[in-house]
Amino acid sequence: MGSVSHKHTNTTPLKRGSSIDHLEYVDVTPIIGREYPTASLKEMLQAPNAEEQLRDLAITICERGVAFFRRPQDDLSVDEQKYITDMLGKLTGRPEENGLHVHPLYNDPNNLPMADGTTDKHIYVINSEAAKRLYATMKKPTTGSEPKDLSREWHSDSLFENCPADFSFLRMQSTPPSGGDTLWCSGYELYDRLSPPFQKFFETLTATCAQPVFESACESGGYDVMSPRGSPLNVDYQFRPSHPVVRTHPVTGWKSLFAGVGLHVSRINEVTTYEDSMIRDYVLRLITRNHDCVARMHWTRGACAIWSNECTLHAATPDTHLVEGIRTGVRASGTGGVPYLDPKSKGRREALGMPLF
Ligand SMILES: [Fe+2]
Repeated sequence: MGSVSHKHTNTTPLKRGSSIDHLEYVDVTPIIGREYPTASLKEMLQAPNAEEQLRDLAITICERGVAFFRRPQDDLSVDEQKYITDMLGKLTGRPEENGLHVHPLYNDPNNLPMADGTTDKHIYVINSEAAKRLYATMKKPTTGSEPKDLSREWHSDSLFENCPADFSFLRMQSTPPSGGDTLWCSGYELYDRLSPPFQKFFETLTATCAQPVFESACESGGYDVMSPRGSPLNVDYQFRPSHPVVRTHPVTGWKSLFAGVGLHVSRINEVTTYEDSMIRDYVLRLITRNHDCVARMHWTRGACAIWSNECTLHAATPDTHLVEGIRTGVRASGTGGVPYLDPKSKGRREALGMPLF
């Protein structure tokens, strides 16, 4: 890779300016999420200080975890959605050689096109019907007697990559009147809810984030995996990185629980198998027993969510099959740097002078 550093260019946490202070907003909970009921992303792009506004939006998202845009953003083109996603990372010090992520299975013939019939390797189309077909090949056999356990849905995007996602931007184009909510949990707050000895211990851990389903899907579908995928470090079938269980957010400088749990985490590396499952169960329990760490989005037509994968986990609610109507959306994701833990960094509460939990 020559002289390319693959590191964020920030040397200190970034501070938010005042360029989007005029936007109406409400914080979804005291801990996570900010909703903009009337803001228009199109107008933001057309403003003379568009880059300043996007940078302040990016830092806001890194602080709050996720931003919801409630007003239907129908006038925003897919290219503009991609541009915003890319710029949020670029303006906050993402490694210069990285760009938008490419889904490994973009070549799958079952992938549906966007509403205008075209496809784009940087856009992942969410479609409730297509998802059933695409993932049919990956399903593990079940006996039908397992209890429903939606906690398995929690994940951070593209954790299976050496350089996982930084920002993800999902725009829901059509959605049933109920169901299909998405939940985001604050990784900052999960870290802050560990006792100091557990924090220290978790900071010594890394996790293998292997995702073998991509290779098996390509094999059974007879097509090639996409490569590279948003970074020269995300290539071929290298879906087996080790990531720190506690990471430092490259924009805020705050510590966040990152790779301790979820869909893409296969093994905590430094411990026995019993300890591995105990640790992951414990983190999952932190999430499911502390719903004040969670912001929930009930989707409405044209609404958008943009989140930082570097400090949140999210989970879909797979209940749209219970109601009439197909759910479609388009998602773009940026590719962040290699996750790291800076031992000198602080938790969010400590950094903000808030009482520790
Ligand atoms: Fe996701």
